[in-house]
Amino acid sequence: MSDQPYHAPVEPTPGSLPTSYWPGLEDHEHSRWYTERFRAMAREGEDLEGESRLVDTLAPRRARLLDAGCGPGRHGGHLARLGHRVVGVDIDPLLIEAAREDHPDATWLVGDLTILDLAAQGEGELFDGVLVAGNVMDFIGEGHRPEAVSRLAAHVRPAGFLVVGCRVGRGFTPGDLDAALPGTGLVLEQRFASWDLRPFHPHSAFCVSILRAGDGSGGR
Ligand SMILES: C[S@@+](CC[C@H](N)C(=O)[O-])C[C@H]1O[C@@H](n2cnc3c(N)ncnc32)[C@H](O)[C@@H]1O
Repeated sequence: MSDQPYHAPVEPTPGSLPTSYWPGLEDHEHSRWYTERFRAMAREGEDLEGESRLVDTLAPRRARLLDAGCGPGRHGGHLARLGHRVVGVDIDPLLIEAAREDHPDATWLVGDLTILDLAAQGEGELFDGVLVAGNVMDFIGEGHRPEAVSRLAAHVRPAGFLVVGCRVGRGFTPGDLDAALPGTGLVLEQRFASWDLRPFHPHSAFCVSILRAGDGSGGR
């Protein structure tokens, strides 16, 4: 892993839409506030692990897991404590710094999901499962979300899974996710309205989609 400062490619081509709308990239106070908010909730004993409990259920033991858009690392940190081999990646360097401080059992990398190439960052082994939680898809720039889905799919091993949880109606929609799937090798396996698996309805305010990669047999 490189210790060189990372300059987030927020606007890779002049005039093109940014790849991230995350406020912390321009306002470091926001990143510090966000980190402290979750640290305080953890100290107060709030349940911050619903997302990672679902991933633990889906995953084999000692799985290789990717926490994509990990922020300060609450999901990946929990999964590492459960014995999984976790890599977390996020575009905000301050949040990655916090994840490294709070959850030293996992590997934390700065990266942009829309151009994700973890092999180039020394993490070439594909993942048993990938988690995208906490409205990350809403913060990825419009027009770049299909690229993020495709780059995430490229990091999933055959028969592995990608779980995407996001609020509905603020930007990204379940329909956007479905439209991004052709050509990625992922298919929608299950869709729920919450991390504790309530049924999804067209009017649900939240959506958890479990996507599965083909097993490489071509359906034989
Ligand atoms: C609301 S936070 C969620 C953090 C974490 N997943 C959680 O649930 O606690 C959204 C995260 O998406 C990350 N993000 C936004 N755009 C991104 C991009 N293009 N590539 C990587 N991470 C991105 C932000 O930096 C931020 O950490």
